[in-house]
This record gives sequence, C-alpha cells and structure tokens, in this order.
Amino acid sequence: MTKKLFVKTYGCQMNVHDGERMAELLAGQGYEQTDKAEEADIVLLNTCHIREKAAEKVYSDIGRLRPLRAARPDLRIAVAGCVAQAEGEEILARAPMVDLVVGPQSYHNLPRLMARMEAGEKVVETEFPPEDKFDHLPTRRLRAPTAFLTVQEGCDKFCAFCVVPYTRGAEVSRPAERILSEARALVAQGVREITLLGQNVNAWHGADGGLAALVRALAATEGLDRIRYTTSHPNDMDEALVAAHGEEPKLMPFLHLPVQSGSDRVLKAMNRRHEAEGYLRLVERLRAARPDLALSSDFIVGFPGETEEDFRATLGLVEAVRFASAFTFAYSPRPGTPAAGRPGVPEEVAHDRLLRLQAVIARQQREAQEAVVGQVVPVLFEKPGRMPGQMAGKSEHLMAVAVDGPESLRGEIRPVRVTAAFQNSLGGEIAA
Ligand code: SAH
Ligand code: SF4
Ligand code: F3S
Repeated sequence: MTKKLFVKTYGCQMNVHDGERMAELLAGQGYEQTDKAEEADIVLLNTCHIREKAAEKVYSDIGRLRPLRAARPDLRIAVAGCVAQAEGEEILARAPMVDLVVGPQSYHNLPRLMARMEAGEKVVETEFPPEDKFDHLPTRRLRAPTAFLTVQEGCDKFCAFCVVPYTRGAEVSRPAERILSEARALVAQGVREITLLGQNVNAWHGADGGLAALVRALAATEGLDRIRYTTSHPNDMDEALVAAHGEEPKLMPFLHLPVQSGSDRVLKAMNRRHEAEGYLRLVERLRAARPDLALSSDFIVGFPGETEEDFRATLGLVEAVRFASAFTFAYSPRPGTPAAGRPGVPEEVAHDRLLRLQAVIARQQREAQEAVVGQVVPVLFEKPGRMPGQMAGKSEHLMAVAVDGPESLRGEIRPVRVTAAFQNSLGGEIAA
C-alpha cells in the first residue's frame, strides 16, 4: 500500500514552492499526496515565522491533530519552514507530538531524516549546508502552465522588523546556467509562465548584468511566454531592470515592490535605507519605461514610534502611486529582531490605521479592475473557475479572469473581452 502525505503550507510564495518540492521529493519515496489530514501517514506543516499569528497557528494546528494521533499512534508529524528554522528544538519541547523538524535550507535531506524518524528517533535538522538543495531534488513533474523557479534565497538587509535574514540565512544567488536549464525543463513540460522567486530577487547576482540579464536570457527560451519575478527591494532596482520592463515583451507589466511606509522617519527606523521620495522617483522611472505597469506593495502600520503624521505620509504615498493591489499588515514584534524591544503603538491605534489604509487600497484595487472593463486582454488559462463550466486564468497584469469555456483552454493564452469587474477578479468572454 502506498503511504500518504498531507502538506499544509503557510506564508510566502517561496514557502509554497518549497512545499511543492518537498511533496515531489517524498513522492519519490512512495508517498502519495492527499488533501485529507485524516488519511495521512505523515502530516507535514510547512510553516511561516513572519508574524506572531502565523507562527502561533502551527501550534494550534498541531493541537488539532491530537485525536488523529491518539487513534493512529503511527501517524508522523513533521514541521518544516521558517518556524522550524527559528525555533528548532523548542518545537519538540512545546509540542512533543512532533517527530521531525527540518529547516528551509536542509529539506533535500528529508529521505535520510525520515529514515531516522521511522527508526523511532526525534529528528531536528536546521543547518545551513553549503550545497545548493536544488541540486539534490528530483526533476520537476509539472502539469500546470505556470511555475515558480527559485533563483535567489536569503536576505542580508536586516530590516528592523523582519525574521527572514535569520530564518532563510544570507543572500545566495543560484548560477544562471542552472536556472536556464531548469527553465528549459519546465517549458518542455508545458510551462508557459515562470515566476522567478527570491526574498530579494532583484539582488540576484548569479551572472554579470544581474536580474535584467537573466530575464533577457530566459526570454530567449522558445515556448516560454511570460516572465515574472518577486519579491523586489526598491534599492536593488537597477537601471537595466527598469529598462527591461520597457523592452522585453515577455516580462509581464506587474511589479510587487514593497515600500512598508511613506514616512522617512519610519523608513529610517525600519532600516529600509531609502526615503519615500526615492520610491516615488523609482515608480516614475518604471512607468516611463512601461506606462501600463501595475504595481503592488507591502505595508506595515503601527511600527514602533509611528505617529498619526507618519501614517498620513503612508496614505499620501499610496494616493500618489495608485496601486493595483497591496498587502497590509499590523506590525508584529518578532523575537530576535532589532525592533522587538521598542515601545509599540497601542493595538487599537494600529488596528484603526490598518482599516483606514485597507479602505484606500481596496478603492484603488477596484478602480484598477474597473479600468479593464471593455478591453480585450490576453489571459493564460490555468484551472477550472469557481462556477461550473468556467475556466480561470491571469491577465498580463496579474488580474484573475474567469470565462465560460472548456477545460481544453488550460495552458492556452487567449484574448478575453472583459465584461465585469469584481473586487478580486474579472469576468469576460473569449474574443474572436
Ligand atoms: N522579502 C520581501 C518580503 C518579506 S516578508 C521584502 O523585502 O519586501 C513579506 C512582508 O511581510 C513584508 O514586506 C512586510 O510588509 C511584512 N512583515 C515582515 N515582518 C513583519 C512584522 N514583524 N510585522 C508585520 N509585518 C511584517
Ligand atoms: Fe525582510 Fe527586509 Fe529582507 Fe525583505 S528586505 S526579507 S523585509 S529583511
Ligand atoms: Fe514566512 Fe519564511 Fe516566507 S517567515 S514569509 S515563510 S520566508
């Protein structure tokens, strides 16, 4: 009988990608993936440490497995991802039901670690080994038309609020040759859109010319139609990459460019190393290169010391840029980060600012969606939509689009006449 694996992933796209890679690795060990924890032989929780709520969720999820484990003592529970890296042994102390803890830079060792676990050992592996884990992972088997490809991992920026430099380690760029051959293999399996992933993806330096050169080299791959990259830091957005947005048609006109705050005082306290004005200038340069570029961002409200005036500067920046979408977060103090000990903003103040910021962003998002109604836009179809008979995909500007259409649309890029805009998606019909 084949064994069954249940994976739950929290957090960013990098973590989603890691979750997929772990599932593929374990498929080679005879584990079939299931979407029901009740029938799993192994439950793998692939965790995120970025905010307290995300990190604590793991423990309530483990608690919820207690009756399952009581009914089937041979059920194994593994914790991977950034909580595994940050807390290591402490996880076993707090949740003795856990059998295995593995960090994001060592999961290629899972088969070896699981053998030890099967032999009855409690296993903790949170090393940052020198080898590239991707060299030790099986070739991808994808049936989807879109794929993630990790090109850079880790972060040396040490923003005062952020755990990523500790959980993912120092910045490492994968060599261009490996990335290009992985991309060719993906395209050979029918992938038409690749999203290059990195915690600071635009700091990639695996070859001369940086990320712009990599994008241009990838664009030469026949059969690859769309290239995206995420997440970028404003300070690593060089002239060549800005220019590539205007010159490389396969580079999609959507950019996630976190700014966090519109107040110079707060940006300084966050150690972001740029000012609001610099961000606005950068947006101008990007839009000069690619006038229809859609922008998204991340914001933190209620950072220690943030005043009402600082917050209004953030609202001002948002009004000036006009984002197509954005993620907004209330500041969450994280153990071991420089800002953790600073006196905070009262919770209700932070919450109020969060709601105010979200209202502005929701309006901008609605305006961006409504502006597309009546246009014909190319859509890459990925999967069935929410309604029966529908297929869903993404526009070049990363908007979700649904049409009535057959399953055979999957993997096709078709022009769609947009007829309706909703908060998070568009409706339309295939144009002749
Ligand atoms: N590498 C990316 C994203 C890192 S995490 C970057 O540099 O932008 C994703 C987002 O989570 C961040 O952009 C930030 O907005 C948010 N975030 C990170 N730490 C946080 C904290 N302690 N509290 C609240 N939000 C946080
Ligand atoms: Fe975290 Fe800042 Fe690095 Fe982004 S750039 S991962 S926010 S430390
Ligand atoms: Fe979370 Fe780790 Fe990603 S902390 S946001 S899963 S890099």
